[in-house]
Amino acid sequence: MFLSINFDKFIQPDSLAKNKLNSLVMKKTATLFLASLLIMFFINCENHSEDDLITPPISTPTPIPTPTAKTYNADVKPIFTNSCISCHGKPPSNGAPSSFDVYTLVKDGVENGAILSRMNNNISPMPPSGKLPASTIAIIEQWATDGYLEN
Ligand code: HEC
Repeated sequence: MFLSINFDKFIQPDSLAKNKLNSLVMKKTATLFLASLLIMFFINCENHSEDDLITPPISTPTPIPTPTAKTYNADVKPIFTNSCISCHGKPPSNGAPSSFDVYTLVKDGVENGAILSRMNNNISPMPPSGKLPASTIAIIEQWATDGYLEN
């Protein structure tokens, strides 16, 4: 009672109305503010999924198949066994002057150019029966490029 009397003394009826209006406006503003906060919260959840927060996995590049290097034993020797050894064996036969039956002799013959120049020769090819397929000759060329691997 004492307090209410004191209170009324200092507050004019006009200003009391103003205060009421102000608090109403404040209430409405606060409600709007809270509502917009809620809306923002839900919009955020909708538009930004958790996936956005997770760093995308680094895509593993498709491995480029590396062709295995050609070796004497696996790739070159079978060609000589099939197409050259009948004349260029040990000892050489059929008038052939050289043996191409071991790694070092074949390597030397390719290195000095004699073997490939005769294998690619249109006039007097080796074997004498006719040039071998280009893909077969390419194996020997690749073997040279790969560094004359034995195994
Ligand atoms: C049917 C027998 C015969 C076959 C198979 C044969 N050669 Fe010959 N090769 C000869 C004769 C004979 C000569 C010597 C005459 C000449 O140079 O044409 C010779 C010569 C060569 C020469 C030059 C001389 C030397 O010895 O360096 C090379 C290089 C050669 N042959 C490589 C080959 C290669 C490589 C193959 C297999 C892809 C092959 N030959 C298959 C008979 C053959």
